[in-house]
Amino acid sequence: MSTALEHPTYNYKVVRQFAIMTVVWGIVGMTFGVILASQLVWPQLNLGIPWTSFGRLRPLHTNLVIFAFGGSALFATSYYVVQRTCQTRLFSDRLAAFTFWGWQAVILSAIVSLPMGFTSTKEYAELEWPIDILIAIVWVSYAAVFLMTIKKRTTSHIYVANWFFAAFILTVAVLHIVNNAAIPVSPMYATSIYAGAVDAMVQWWYGHNAVGFFLTAGFLGMMYYFVPKQAERPIYSYRLSIVHFWALIMIYMWAGPHHLHYTALPNWAQSLGMVMSIILLAPSWGGMINGMMTLSGAWHKLRTDPTLRFLVVALSFYGMSTFEGPMMAIKTVNALSHYTDWTIGHVHSGALGWVAMITIGSMYHLIPRVFGRTEMHSVNLIAVHFWLATIGTVLYIASMWVNGILQGLMWRAINPDGTLMYTFVEAVEASAPGYFVRLIGGLFWVTGMLIMAFNVYMTVKRREAISHSAPQVA
Ligand code: HEM
Ligand code: HEM
Repeated sequence: MSTALEHPTYNYKVVRQFAIMTVVWGIVGMTFGVILASQLVWPQLNLGIPWTSFGRLRPLHTNLVIFAFGGSALFATSYYVVQRTCQTRLFSDRLAAFTFWGWQAVILSAIVSLPMGFTSTKEYAELEWPIDILIAIVWVSYAAVFLMTIKKRTTSHIYVANWFFAAFILTVAVLHIVNNAAIPVSPMYATSIYAGAVDAMVQWWYGHNAVGFFLTAGFLGMMYYFVPKQAERPIYSYRLSIVHFWALIMIYMWAGPHHLHYTALPNWAQSLGMVMSIILLAPSWGGMINGMMTLSGAWHKLRTDPTLRFLVVALSFYGMSTFEGPMMAIKTVNALSHYTDWTIGHVHSGALGWVAMITIGSMYHLIPRVFGRTEMHSVNLIAVHFWLATIGTVLYIASMWVNGILQGLMWRAINPDGTLMYTFVEAVEASAPGYFVRLIGGLFWVTGMLIMAFNVYMTVKRREAISHSAPQVA
């Protein structure tokens, strides 16, 4: 990196590194999503070899999109936001650099070990114990950099975005360590210290809070900085942001059992999970409404600013998926939706509509600033990306709703004599058109990400041209 562009106060180098890797891992992770979507249309694409089979590539997709793409975005934005709102440099440049290289090492280990078939079998926690230890070390370093930066702030106040980032970092540390507690048996195998229904409950306490803190609280931190910045308006209600922060983190913790309806988990725990999930609608919508209302008086900017469009549409999908989730947590609804593509549709309305859209909007704001430019190379290309992403998401989730309800109804349909009306294979056949539409949606997304990569490349290249002529850019 050229020193001519180094900020006099802040460490932007680590932000730039994580921002670039966000785009790279976004493309790689979503490409694996497209491969999986293709395998569900044309099963022969499994190629008949274990390494490329659906069962091994699926966890690779989830690890890449959640931890590599989402994780890099969270590191980049939290390091950027904490420095700017605390008006101080990161606590330690060296430790921050360690978190960057350490996190990339975790991702590379996932890329190697998952296709080889090494898995703990716990969803979203598949990586084996030596990698889990590396994750714990990197994460504790991340917590140290972030929290110590807050401690050495030169402002009296801690801006609310940092509350969300801090809650996400601390909670993920606890979740990771508790859920992965295991006794190593061999260099790539360990046995969980929990058994039976307790193991399942710990796993979904982890799994649901991974959604609540990794995929929600961290991205709300992003929302609370980048929406007001891009809209050039203050947060609608600072009081609401504090109230919904505490409500959100208190309630999320109890909702995990909705993943285990009608299982060996005690009935009272299932009902508790259901009730807490319904209550969760309130703090979730508190955040969504607070973000939306920040645009009061700035709605006209949506006509000309596609970056703001990404941020606002992300909030709409956040509102939608956090309405859908509580509905799916009702036991009678879950009896229909569970095991079907409805769940997959819900996941991606959160993952693509909320997580990826808010990330991309934030990156379009952040990247030019940390690379010493005032705006991205092409605003028109951001607009093209916006439409590809929005249409891609709608194609994905609409096809999965249709498939999900179709599957749920076909599986439960019975003849007057009590026998099943449809075989399982008939339900699979009926799902084929939906799988094809989802694939088209995925291709829209990957095309949009490639356009983003080009736009980012041109922005960075321009920076280099400036850095040779301009001695200092603050
Ligand atoms: C081009 C975009 C994407 C495509 C085409 C895609 C496709 C897929 C496919 C085909 C599956 C397997 C579904 C099944 O087993 O029936 C899947 C699962 C999953 N994807 Fe994606 N995906 C994309 C982007 C993302 C992103 C950006 C995220 C997260 C930020 C994400 C998170 C997940 C998760 C969590 C699952 C597992 C869902 C579950 O177990 O219920 N995906 N994806
Ligand atoms: C109020 C908020 C939410 C509630 C109450 C909720 C509830 C639910 C429910 C009931 C399920 C289905 C469980 C099953 O039948 O197995 C589910 C699955 C899932 N949700 Fe949500 N959801 C919420 C928000 C979100 C958001 C915002 C995201 C993503 C950013 C998300 C990601 C997921 C994922 C990844 C799964 C699949 C888990 C698996 O692998 O089985 N959820 N959610």
